[in-house]
Amino acid sequence: MAQPLTGLEPVITAAELAQRVQSLGAAITQDYQSVLADDESLLVIGVLNGAFIFMADLLRAMDLPIEIDFVRLSSYQDQMVSASHVVMLKNLETEIKDRHVLVVEDIADLGLTLAWLLEFLRLKEPRSLKLAVAINKLERRRVNLALDYVGFDLEEGFLVGYGLDYAHKHRNLPGIYKLRP
Ligand code: IMP
Ligand code: MG
Repeated sequence: MAQPLTGLEPVITAAELAQRVQSLGAAITQDYQSVLADDESLLVIGVLNGAFIFMADLLRAMDLPIEIDFVRLSSYQDQMVSASHVVMLKNLETEIKDRHVLVVEDIADLGLTLAWLLEFLRLKEPRSLKLAVAINKLERRRVNLALDYVGFDLEEGFLVGYGLDYAHKHRNLPGIYKLRP
């Protein structure tokens, strides 16, 4: 039976995502072609769980030697101190010192999770560190984030599909939808 889509408003279609991911992949390919040495590969680090679909598509749009790794983060907000606590549920398995690293994440919202991860990775002294997100949600951003590759800029709304979930649901919708309040 098909998933009922009541309460979901289409925002980005699967075709629009596919087209945008192709151009991001082409841009990444061009940027790293001159950067990677002959025997070098780009280490692509996905942030679980949300990034798995975007990362799978983006990797196949990149014509570069790559390796992959994943981290899994869980963040919750502390209203009292207006901060976000990030817990690492799964650490890297790869040594990243002196590697070219591209982090792939589904969405930047407050930005606190990615800011935390970038600092964590920077301390390990990668040769370069860049960031790709499928969705850049701007309205609630709380920290300055330098995003190198952005699929789509959106102002607001709680989004599901293309890896994004609401209460563990809807990750496998091929497009992106906004949850109606
Ligand atoms: P933040 O940037 O620190 O707020 O954290 C971003 C994380 O919150 C993402 O990795 C998602 O897991 C989750 N998140 C933020 N906005 C949304 C949304 O619109 N839909 C689904 N998950 C979201
Ligand atoms: Mg996430």
